[in-house]
Amino acid sequence: MRNYTKIKDIQNLSETIKEAILLKMNPFEFSELGKNKTLVMLFFNSSLRTRLSTEKAAKNLGMNVTILNVNDAWNLEFEDGAIMNMDKSEHVKDAAQVISQYADIIAVRAFPSLTDKAKDESELILNSFKKHATVPIINMESATAHPLQALADAITITELTEKAKPKVVLSWAPHPKALPQAVANSFVEMMQAMEIDLTITHPEGYELNDEITKDTPINYNQEEALKEADFVYVKNWSSYKDYGKVLHQDKNWMMTKAKLGHAKFMHCLPLRRNVVVEDAVLDSDQSVVIKQANNRTYAAQVVLKQILENL
Ligand code: CP
Repeated sequence: MRNYTKIKDIQNLSETIKEAILLKMNPFEFSELGKNKTLVMLFFNSSLRTRLSTEKAAKNLGMNVTILNVNDAWNLEFEDGAIMNMDKSEHVKDAAQVISQYADIIAVRAFPSLTDKAKDESELILNSFKKHATVPIINMESATAHPLQALADAITITELTEKAKPKVVLSWAPHPKALPQAVANSFVEMMQAMEIDLTITHPEGYELNDEITKDTPINYNQEEALKEADFVYVKNWSSYKDYGKVLHQDKNWMMTKAKLGHAKFMHCLPLRRNVVVEDAVLDSDQSVVIKQANNRTYAAQVVLKQILENL
């Protein structure tokens, strides 16, 4: 693997999931692979899981890790040919090449604006680093995708499923703030790449990009969609059509124990208790959110391993 900016960068998904599960059983087996190699992690936005799990994964492989909260550094310009006489102090062209002098791999977290769809879809920040850096790039959640989370989710379902083809439902949830579509997009793409019977349920107006959902069934009736589900992945996202808007916060879409039935409950975290899901679900044995969070380490570790092997 050269870069991991999207799910399609994984050459063999089922083998990669198996490899991640083996790494989980023996996390220090390749602790020499990353010796004298450095991962630089760039955060344009907040993180708990991605930051800690990716650092742990890199250290399990023997790597050094440097973390930069980019908002503490010089204000970056991303536009080609910009006349930089305003508030931007350094161009990404220069910054990416400089960071490449200190890094063997660069990982980037950069959320969308949720105000300018075209700009967000161009993935300006992630793609600028991909273009100007001279080392591999990992996406730690960009404007439209969160492929490390999706890989952790795929590992979790593979570990826990009792069926060859489980039914998985992606169910929209209410939230007071406008959140990106990135987690939902990558989850859908990952499920489409696996032996999964996937259904998406959300209120009308919350349709995801149809270039991503493709032929995956969408059911506006949550109760119907949830019937006989084995895994229910709950996530809020803001409207894609009415870009970045919170159209409503219908409490009836919150996940409850009654709605969940016998399914396992999944969420990428962080989440707002008793808004997205009731405590009774999150605190029950049906919740696998902590397992998902644990698998973030092995998703990052298998990606780093495959990139290090290709350096
Ligand atoms: N799920 C996830 O990416 O968590 P963080 O935002 O805390 O990294």
